[in-house]
Amino acid sequence: MLIAIGSDHAGLEMKTEIISLLKQLGHEYIDYGTDSPQSVDYPDFGEKVADAVSTANADRGILICGTGIGMSIVANKFPNIRASLCNELFSAKMSRLHNDANILVLGGRIVGKDLAKEIVCTWMTTPFEKGRHLKRLEKISLIEEKKTKKS
Ligand code: RB5
Repeated sequence: MLIAIGSDHAGLEMKTEIISLLKQLGHEYIDYGTDSPQSVDYPDFGEKVADAVSTANADRGILICGTGIGMSIVANKFPNIRASLCNELFSAKMSRLHNDANILVLGGRIVGKDLAKEIVCTWMTTPFEKGRHLKRLEKISLIEEKKTKKS
């Protein structure tokens, strides 16, 4: 799988850990930065990753900021994006099973690196359950269409 990954300064250390894990798991990745601990604005990096996934230039995305909240807000502005903030394992699993999440968001100041790696492994390997959840995702797409037409 091709993964778009990005963070702000608060997620940089965790991004580095996760990139090593993605390599170990045999995934390809595109690193959209940031590359230094200097303070940056999370929307600049969230935009790049969400755009890559939204336009099918990457299969899925991973975003990290301090809490994960800012990156989630940014990513969910994009069409076809279902970004899920998962700072524990149950949400990581359910975000794939029920929501077919295509961007995983983590809080670099909330989750330890070992748990973060477990979250990524779970999220990468859990399939979408489809069934009754498909209809719900279709409803989300319809809302997106309605809102896009209005503006
Ligand atoms: C940066 O200090 C912090 O605000 C950012 O990483 C993130 O937590 C925003 O939601």
